[in-house]
This record gives sequence, C-alpha cells and structure tokens, in this order.
Amino acid sequence: MPIAEEPSARAWLKLLRERLTPERMSHSVFTAEYLSSFAPSLGVDHGDAVTAGLFHDFYRDHEAASLWKEARKYRIIMSETQMREALLLHGPLAAEWCRRELDVSEEVYEAIYWHTTGRPGLGLLGQALFVADFAEPSRSFPEAEKARKLLRLEGFEAALLYVAEIRHAWIRLQAVVDPDTKAFLIWLKTRGNM
Ligand SMILES: [Fe+2]
Ligand SMILES: [Fe+2]
Repeated sequence: MPIAEEPSARAWLKLLRERLTPERMSHSVFTAEYLSSFAPSLGVDHGDAVTAGLFHDFYRDHEAASLWKEARKYRIIMSETQMREALLLHGPLAAEWCRRELDVSEEVYEAIYWHTTGRPGLGLLGQALFVADFAEPSRSFPEAEKARKLLRLEGFEAALLYVAEIRHAWIRLQAVVDPDTKAFLIWLKTRGNM
C-alpha cells in the first residue's frame, strides 16, 4: 500500500517539505515507501512503517549547536558520544518530536530514536528502519545495492546482518565511535535466531 493512502500522509509531507532539504525530503519518502513495502510482511503495522520512514531524519538538517540546544530543551540525557558528535542526536530528537506532536506508538518512537546506531533488543520496526534507511532505492552506493539484493533474494535477516556489519565497519573509521552500533551487531550475531 503506497504511503499516500495513509490518512495523515498529505499533511505530513507538507510538514516535511517545509523542514527538510529537497535531498533529505526525497530520501525520507523513499525510506517510507521502501520500509512500508517489506515491513508489513514481518508483522509491522503499515502506518507505523510510513511514519517512521517519513520522520526518522526530521532533525537531520539541523546544525550541531541547534541539536544540542533542542536536546537540552527536550531533557534528553546525552551520552558521551552525543556530547562530542551532535549528529548522533538527530534520531532521539526526531523521536521526541514525534511523540509530542504526533502521539506516535512506542514502536515508532523506538525505531526513530535508534535508527542511526541500532541497539541490543531493538524491535522489529527499528530493525526494518535500520535496513530501509541504508538501502532505500535512491541510495546508489554498491553496499546499498547489495543490501536490496539480499532482502529480495535471501530475506530480511540476511539483509539486516549485512547492513549492521557494513555500518559497524564504516563507523569504526570515524572520529567519534558510538558503542551502540557494535553492541547491536554483536546482539544480532548472538541472539540465536539468525
Ligand atoms: Fe538519520
Ligand atoms: Fe535517513
């Protein structure tokens, strides 16, 4: 079912268009479309998939100073890595905003909150958003192409593990390494149902 059929989609797209750059807007719509194309088969609510996809990057175009300021306003307890790398706050801030303004479900809140790093115990919608954000069809890098192919041919678990491994490998090269990405990968590899 396309995202336009969700009752609030029209108003939400207007909100997103006012807030995001055209590139981010496009990525958000692609993420929502892609996520809602496969997540319902995992048992995730279609409306939740659309909401999480559309709003996951709602704070992604904010400057660092603004992210830290908003986090203080929302009383988000910042980790050491978030205090050094403000961009890591864009998920938690979008989740908080969605909870206050859209009254989203706990599943949507959790998925958006953790979409950048993942975390051990992350729910199905969060896992699906983690894959969709990385592999939505407008992502043209070869790893995104491979993740889409894995999802198509080998299924969700294979795609999820691949995306978690790639993100972990990339994040290790960055100046600020958030421990949740590694913890998420270890959890996926050891949870026993892969
Ligand atoms: Fe993001
Ligand atoms: Fe994203």
